[in-house]
Amino acid sequence: MENINVLINKSRLEKRIDEMAREIEKDYEGKEIVFLGILKGSVPFMWELAKRVKNNVIFEFIEVSSYKGTESTGTVTLHKDIKNSIEGKDVIIIEDIVDTGRTIDFLLTHLKEKGVSSIKIATLLSKPSRRVVELNIDYIGFKIEDKFVVGFGLDYDQNLRNLPYIGYME
Ligand code: IMP
Ligand code: MG
Repeated sequence: MENINVLINKSRLEKRIDEMAREIEKDYEGKEIVFLGILKGSVPFMWELAKRVKNNVIFEFIEVSSYKGTESTGTVTLHKDIKNSIEGKDVIIIEDIVDTGRTIDFLLTHLKEKGVSSIKIATLLSKPSRRVVELNIDYIGFKIEDKFVVGFGLDYDQNLRNLPYIGYME
């Protein structure tokens, strides 16, 4: 894979995720929280966030996709649903990046049908200039410009998820 430039290094990521954990603890005051990770990109962020939060955190995962290569396809496909009931639970959707907003929009509808008690959204990255669906995102790590980014869970055709920083490709 050619040139990858560092956009956000490991220590900036960790410092910001730590701040996000404090915000979540303040909002949930000792309550149990379901972290619903969107596979696969949210995995590193979910772990870094969960281990910093003192609340009891339940891990659930759901798999959806909307991207092919570096292009959003515009349709969201559900590949793996949640097996356990999350009825009556306080859920935080954990996402690597919110781009057009279609994935989160789809999941909000899907989760409301499951009778959750509350839903919030935590994303490591957001590209506000790309939004096609209006969303209220509760916790945003970093707002970035319209660049295709990789690493810390984010992939380019399934590659580069294991980079320990956020990079961008030329
Ligand atoms: P949305 O539905 O358009 O908001 O897209 C969200 C999903 O697109 C994310 O969960 C990522 O999987 C993928 N995505 C969006 N932008 C990027 C990027 O810059 N790099 C890698 N994946 C991205
Ligand atoms: Mg994703």
